[in-house]
Amino acid sequence: MSFSVKIKQSDTLLPVEMGDTILTAALAADVPYPHGCQSGNCGACKSRLYSGEIEMSPYSDYALTDEEKDFGLILACRAMPWSDCEVAWLEQDEVISHPLRKIDCKVVALEHMTHEIARIRLSIEAHGPFEFTPGQYAKLHFPGQPPRDYSMASLPNEDILEFHIRMVSEGGVSSFVYQHLKLGEEVRVEGPFGISYLRQKHTGPMLALAGGSGLAPIKSIVESALAAGAKQPIHMYFGVRTEQDVYLEDHFRELVAKHNNFSLEIVLSEPEGATARRAGYLADVMADDFGNLDGSKAYLAGPPIMVETCVNRLKKMHVHEEDCHADAFYTEAEKAELEGDHEL
Ligand code: FES
Repeated sequence: MSFSVKIKQSDTLLPVEMGDTILTAALAADVPYPHGCQSGNCGACKSRLYSGEIEMSPYSDYALTDEEKDFGLILACRAMPWSDCEVAWLEQDEVISHPLRKIDCKVVALEHMTHEIARIRLSIEAHGPFEFTPGQYAKLHFPGQPPRDYSMASLPNEDILEFHIRMVSEGGVSSFVYQHLKLGEEVRVEGPFGISYLRQKHTGPMLALAGGSGLAPIKSIVESALAAGAKQPIHMYFGVRTEQDVYLEDHFRELVAKHNNFSLEIVLSEPEGATARRAGYLADVMADDFGNLDGSKAYLAGPPIMVETCVNRLKKMHVHEEDCHADAFYTEAEKAELEGDHEL
């Protein structure tokens, strides 16, 4: 018995015998499927499963993390189809690899950006360097507190790491940071993690959609793209509830002034009285500005409902699902946060 596997990058409809892996069948049919070890250890055959069922034989966490698996990624060298399937191997700039490190840092700056968001900056004191791709996150271990996930707002080549901490509950880690953290205190940073990172090779238009403290990874993504000389249009939207939630506007306005291809809209969902800003839900405001967005990539970070609504809207505007980058963990973290377990 065999199943048919459609590989997006190839015209071949591949018959795969039950118990065979997608990679074995592809290589036997002369499909140039990217691969390395063929034993689940290197990650070179990492692919996206669009439809169908597969079973995977054992592999290393290094080759495929649980988070990537939850996001629909598989290893073709380990994947045995249990039905007809559709897959695509990841393009080169979709595969990143950084050493997982635990580095010792010190708080060198601490600012209250809004009534509920603090910005902290950390210098790396030991066990660095800390390599990451813009959009990724780390686990922060504050003194006496359980670890929490926060995205890097800084650029990978900067000496100082920047994080934005939103106060979500009295007595939690974020309230410790917001109310008690002091300059000079030690913070351990573990990472990097996350798959919602900047795809540098993409040259089509970019949408960067941030809600609340989701500004942190979007800041890193947008600034890194501009610093690398990106020429395509980059449309950034920053959605918050009211005027008092807006932060770093001057910083981004300076970037708008410097880069013709970069635009910024700040969107208030619940403006208090008359406002000169765009008002409404971020997804609606963004959709008002564009028609067909085929060929664009979107990076999203913020509350789950915002991310979900925007992705649905983007798909209707012909942005492919694989071009919408929002970390799956983020939604889970926000859900858990509602249960008082995580903070973001
Ligand atoms: S080829 Fe190395 S993990 Fe599949």
